[in-house]
Amino acid sequence: MNGLQAPRGVPEYLPPVSEDFLAVRNTLGRAAQLGGYGYIELPVFEDTAVFVRGVGESTDVVSKEMYTFTDRGDRSLSLRPEGTAGVMRSVLEHGLHRGGLPVKLWYAGPFFRAERPQQGRYRQLQQVGVEAIGVDDPLLDAEVIAVADEGYRRLGLRGFRLYLSSIGCRTCRPVYRAALQEFLDGLDLDEPTRQRAQLNPLRVLDDKRPAIQDLLVDAPLPPDYLCDECREHFTRVQQALTALGVRFTLNPRLVRGLDYYTRTTFEFDHPALGAQSGIGGGGRYDGLMESLGGPELTGIGFGLGTDRTLLACQAEGLHPAAARPIEAYIVPVGEAARDAGLVLAGRLRAAGVGVDMAYGGRGMKGAMKGADRSGARWAIIMGERELAEGVVQLKDLETGAQAAVSADEVLGKILTGEIS
Ligand code: HAM
Repeated sequence: MNGLQAPRGVPEYLPPVSEDFLAVRNTLGRAAQLGGYGYIELPVFEDTAVFVRGVGESTDVVSKEMYTFTDRGDRSLSLRPEGTAGVMRSVLEHGLHRGGLPVKLWYAGPFFRAERPQQGRYRQLQQVGVEAIGVDDPLLDAEVIAVADEGYRRLGLRGFRLYLSSIGCRTCRPVYRAALQEFLDGLDLDEPTRQRAQLNPLRVLDDKRPAIQDLLVDAPLPPDYLCDECREHFTRVQQALTALGVRFTLNPRLVRGLDYYTRTTFEFDHPALGAQSGIGGGGRYDGLMESLGGPELTGIGFGLGTDRTLLACQAEGLHPAAARPIEAYIVPVGEAARDAGLVLAGRLRAAGVGVDMAYGGRGMKGAMKGADRSGARWAIIMGERELAEGVVQLKDLETGAQAAVSADEVLGKILTGEIS
């Protein structure tokens, strides 16, 4: 140890767990691809204004948790705390919204929030997200939610739950907000909570302290204040989810931590994860484009927490990386066999088989240990005699069975799993 460590609260994924991490990301991404979402790769830092205007200045994410720095040109930049605002910036900058609507995009990668680290809550967190922009159709809300549900299902997860609500639009939300504010004004709140109630009363509903929750039992809730259009939209979303077989629970107290949400909001959680049980969330954000200086375009999307989804898989005993990265491990004995082994490894890889080899001229015993450690099913043993006869010894490390097979047959044997 030279004393250097990864920054606090930043998880690292090393083999073999990293294979499961990758499989979670790929599987969630695959669900998005199957839904017709195109991949977008975005900068990890943006102009700070993208997040201040997009996510909202009153949110914890922007006001307390952003990693903001000034670059050499005196510009204020921030590591992205979430993906939606950056996607909107990119769509506007490149005019994607002038093509067919909806614009459907997915992304995956790291996001940064200076939160207090704990199990499942990191300062570098990973998400797989989608955004569907420009069509205000409740069926699109249902599709987005169903894509997330499908992603979790493809991983084999069973214990996750979906909570759904609607928080209204720019017509009905002010009416609700006023009603909530009036209710909160009548409560005996501590000073910080009172200030929060002034700034963003909805956030008070999200206060986890039991004493506050007791005071809020009779608080007015967003779904009771929806205008006719929002109520109709919400009903259609629920009908479509039911038709799709996506199970959900209505939670009228659902509050999302970001300011841009309108109408449909949702969260997935997994009860095995303890305090940080939210494995994904999202919703509609019909005013976001405008707040970034764009046209009046609606949108809906989600961000699924890759780290927490992996934790949920582990809690359910799932190993998403079912396919082994390495199928075969070459054990060459002697210099000529090393050359031949390298060529064989190249040929097998070109045919799609994961192959590793013992390097450094290790002896047979050490090389076989490497084979065991690699997790490969097959050891391909090559010595002088095998080379002379044009064969290799193919050993099934699971059963111990071994057979001499011609170099040309190795691939077929590995693919079919038969060596006799
Ligand atoms: P979010 O709810 O802030 O939404 O984050 C989405 C998911 O990211 C959470 O449900 C959680 O699984 C994961 N996550 C968030 N913070 C952390 C953390 N500190 N450590 C580990 N995992 C974390 C958004 O970010 C929105 N942009 C989602 C969205 C897209 N809404 C519409 N489109």
